[in-house]
Amino acid sequence: MTGSLTGLELFHKKFDLPLSQVLHTVAPDYFRREDLSQSEAEFVAYCVADLEALIEREGADTIAAFIGEPALGTGGIVPPPSGYWEAIQAVLKKHDILLIADEVVSGFGRLGTMFGSDHYGIQPDFITIAKGLTSAYAPLSGSIVSDKVWKVLEDGTDEFGPIGHGWTYSAHPIGAAAGVANLKLIDSLGLVANAGSQVPTSRMHLRMRSEITPTLATSAATVCFARSNLYRTRPAEPISIRQAKPAHRLQQPVEGRRHRPGDAAGRHPGVRPSPVHF
Ligand SMILES: Cc1ncc(COP(=O)(O)O)c(C=O)c1O
Repeated sequence: MTGSLTGLELFHKKFDLPLSQVLHTVAPDYFRREDLSQSEAEFVAYCVADLEALIEREGADTIAAFIGEPALGTGGIVPPPSGYWEAIQAVLKKHDILLIADEVVSGFGRLGTMFGSDHYGIQPDFITIAKGLTSAYAPLSGSIVSDKVWKVLEDGTDEFGPIGHGWTYSAHPIGAAAGVANLKLIDSLGLVANAGSQVPTSRMHLRMRSEITPTLATSAATVCFARSNLYRTRPAEPISIRQAKPAHRLQQPVEGRRHRPGDAAGRHPGVRPSPVHF
């Protein structure tokens, strides 16, 4: 099921995915929109219309939830077009459809706020969390559930008994201890605010890198998310952002072979306390 949720084909091939219960709507990637004549506002309206049409086709009462990342991570490090989340949430509210924010990449400071949802004014019913929860020092993932949803789960156990949901190592104390220690450090070291204050610096570094490496062009930097697009020649001949292949369309991982013009390399380092703090 989770492999079906992403729109990235490489996770679907050879696995008979996506499952038929999972439907995809337009990815909020303005730079790779089909209709290049669309302004940002027109593209948002197009995304909204596509979602409305899907809901109309399927029936709102058959839709469990809408899931999306606040900003696309593996899909190319793509911030949403301005006003996207506001407009999408209005549609979901109107049809009483739950919203899941996948914050596996954007959580814990990467957008300069504790969650990407805070950055974009998203009010999710669930938040999925992982990577930054332990700053990758130990494996741990989880879901944050709103009171509204929790109440349904709680009341449901009266009728159906305990929920059959878990993994062999669910709630393992080693992962949980690492998570608690890491969250304390994120708070005490003020790492989220620090990440927010790094935006101008990270943009400046990207600009400097593109000046000293003429075959590198930068296109997007949102706090700790950044993507570099490669130029075609030296001295730089820019290629359009539409020509730059998102990472998921490359035949091989960018890091594993010579970079080619048209490649896009993404970076989303975590906000991490240094190991010495432990
Ligand atoms: C946005 C997003 N969601 C979910 C996942 C998968 O998380 P997990 O490996 O915990 O299943 C990833 C993995 O990188 C991701 O980037």
